Amino acid sequence: MRFGFAASSFIMRSIILLVFHASIVTPAALHLKRDNDTEPYSLPSDDPDIAARTSALQLKHAGWTYGPPKAGNTSFYPTGALGGPAAQQQAVELGQFQDLVSANVTSDSQKAAAAITAAGGLKSLDDYAILYQNQWQASVPKGPFPGMLTNYTDDLLFSMESLSLNPFRIVRVAPSAALPFAVNNSASISGDSLESLQSDGRLFLSDMSDQNELPTSSAGKYTAPSQAYFYIDNSTGDFLPLAIKVQTNSSSLTYTPADSTNDWLMAKMLFNMNNFGHAEWYHLGATHALTEIVYLAAIRTLSDEHPVMAMLHRIMKEAFAIRVAAEQRLLYPGGPIDSLFAYAAAGASQYTTILYENGQSSAFQANYFRANLESRGLINSEFGPELKHFPYYEDGAVIHDSIHTFMQAFVKSYYKSPEDLAQDNELQSWIAEAGPAQIVDFPAAPLNDVDALVDILTHVAHIVSIVHGTLNTNTPVASDASLPFHPSSFWSPIPTSKGITDTDLMKLMPQVQASIGQIVLLAAFNRPSFVNSDQTITHMFDDKELLARTNEETRAAEEKFREDMNAFSETVRGRKFDERGLSQGMPFIWGSLDPNTASYWLTI
Ligand SMILES: *[C@@H]1O[C@H](CO)[C@@H](O)[C@H](O)[C@H]1NC(C)=O
Ligand SMILES: *[C@@H]1O[C@H](CO)[C@@H](O)[C@H](O)[C@H]1NC(C)=O
Ligand SMILES: *[C@@H]1O[C@H](CO)[C@@H](O)[C@H](O)[C@H]1NC(C)=O
Ligand SMILES: *[C@@H]1O[C@H](CO)[C@@H](O)[C@H](O)[C@H]1NC(C)=O
Ligand SMILES: *[C@@H]1O[C@H](CO)[C@@H](O)[C@H](O)[C@H]1NC(C)=O
Ligand SMILES: *[C@@H]1O[C@H](CO)[C@@H](O)[C@H](O)[C@H]1NC(C)=O
Ligand SMILES: *[C@@H]1O[C@H](CO)[C@@H](O)[C@H](O)[C@H]1NC(C)=O
Ligand SMILES: [Fe+2]
Repeated sequence: MRFGFAASSFIMRSIILLVFHASIVTPAALHLKRDNDTEPYSLPSDDPDIAARTSALQLKHAGWTYGPPKAGNTSFYPTGALGGPAAQQQAVELGQFQDLVSANVTSDSQKAAAAITAAGGLKSLDDYAILYQNQWQASVPKGPFPGMLTNYTDDLLFSMESLSLNPFRIVRVAPSAALPFAVNNSASISGDSLESLQSDGRLFLSDMSDQNELPTSSAGKYTAPSQAYFYIDNSTGDFLPLAIKVQTNSSSLTYTPADSTNDWLMAKMLFNMNNFGHAEWYHLGATHALTEIVYLAAIRTLSDEHPVMAMLHRIMKEAFAIRVAAEQRLLYPGGPIDSLFAYAAAGASQYTTILYENGQSSAFQANYFRANLESRGLINSEFGPELKHFPYYEDGAVIHDSIHTFMQAFVKSYYKSPEDLAQDNELQSWIAEAGPAQIVDFPAAPLNDVDALVDILTHVAHIVSIVHGTLNTNTPVASDASLPFHPSSFWSPIPTSKGITDTDLMKLMPQVQASIGQIVLLAAFNRPSFVNSDQTITHMFDDKELLARTNEETRAAEEKFREDMNAFSETVRGRKFDERGLSQGMPFIWGSLDPNTASYWLTI
């Protein structure tokens, strides 16, 4: 029983972290409602009892204040007589649910441990599939995305992950940009020199060298920052990897598909490690820290009678729970990040801070759905050919545009003209509150364009559902943190010369305890019980009170949204491999944005 479960300290540590360190809380009202909360929501000018409204809002403004950030130096975290306890209460509620998830994960992990023990351990890369086969019935019943465990050596699987699972780092290289490294055999791989690919607008870069300053965790875990080039192939239009440069303290090696299978595979795995680190710590800032501060600023300025406040309460469900959970369950010294990831928990917080401070995760308007993709040349590029397949954009656009249509109906049912906006002192206070709240790149006050309000609300809803569902929740365990292609760390020093043997490769790979620990950790983010439930994107606006207290226009728009999402869910669920063995141009079937599976709120 060398690989016995009980002896597995990594697994135990991973599981312990998922048990909440419960703290004493006093229940507090997040919503300060009037006795009769069936009255329609109103703008301040239409409120029949403006005196009651004003005094309730003053209480809220005083009781929700800006406290120190958590889990990285990002946005303020709520404090104050009302905000402190209410935020803490949310963390307790998440903890209670998380404990139910963890119970399932724990019993499933025992099955996986028994299966791999019975099979004699992990002797080759193929053995990692045993860790998944029917082992996670309660916690990850569908397992990794179809193709993920069988097609991972296909270069197209590697490259297309940057256009689906984490589309937030890659950029199309501008013809005038300085190239970070040379690839002298580019022509034999792509048909063109690096310089020609660049001048054609067919060269892309995903540069993880900003991970070079992060502290690494102890106990024999290794990683190194990498930079990867991708290109659009002339004849097929496929988006493929060209080269990966790996920088260690004592070596700098450029790997390409022309290298040996093991060398190239190692380089791709190392990039995946960097890419997953980027995805998660970017997500912490871009989805959690950013929307939380927009919400907190709203709580301080908008009455609970205000329709925009009601909308934000709906889509920001339990939002203040996550940074507490991240500190208590993930990032504490010796916790799962320290145990399983090559960059330490301190490195995770530091990277979260770097990405927030440089604006990449924190900028509000610059990260609007299309603006973000345009800024990196992925859509509507002024140079180079269009991407033949861009799964994140294809799926994201359907949901994003439906959210936008809904928000248009909702906002325009309250604001008929710029004058209506100008008169709404609460709304204008919210926009101006971006100053003291230190929201980066929020629209300027005063807001005098109704469409700009539609865009703000669309963006918050977009982030909590589409961006979060792409990067986190159900996605990692099914794909960019699945083994063997996506180890969260290497377990022997990064090679400083080429010629990696099968034995070398297996020494780099996580062994049984670390592998199960990695699956346990990411399985705990999965939400199988949400599938087909009212927690999904389809039901984002399907809230009894919200619909009852808004108006006919909003109710009609909600019904249309639900219909559109149900139809799109059928499309996503109907995906199959085509004659090339591809789906959306990828050798795996991506389902992160199935609106009847992904949750409408930040979740975890
Ligand atoms: C509560 O509001 C509803 C709808 O506006 C109204 O019909 C009802 O009389 C109100 N009840 C009380 C107790 O004020
Ligand atoms: C966090 O960032 C703010 C400004 O963004 C800075 O003033 C503060 O000193 C930083 N705190 C820490 C602990 O680094
Ligand atoms: C735990 O697993 C059971 C059995 O599959 C399932 O019914 C339940 O919803 C799961 N709980 C959670 C919180 O996922
Ligand atoms: C490319 O560079 C590597 C080392 O930098 C060298 O070993 C190799 O011979 C070069 N190949 C060509 C085609 O110049
Ligand atoms: C690919 O297309 C570009 C522009 O259309 C052209 O300049 C280049 O020579 C082509 N390369 C190959 C290998 O066909
Ligand atoms: C690389 O150098 C940095 C900074 O000098 C150091 O912190 C780190 O431990 C070194 N990494 C390895 C694997 O030696
Ligand atoms: C990917 O895997 C599936 C089955 O797992 C297979 O049907 C398909 O042909 C594979 N695609 C490629 C490109 O190998
Ligand atoms: Fe999250």
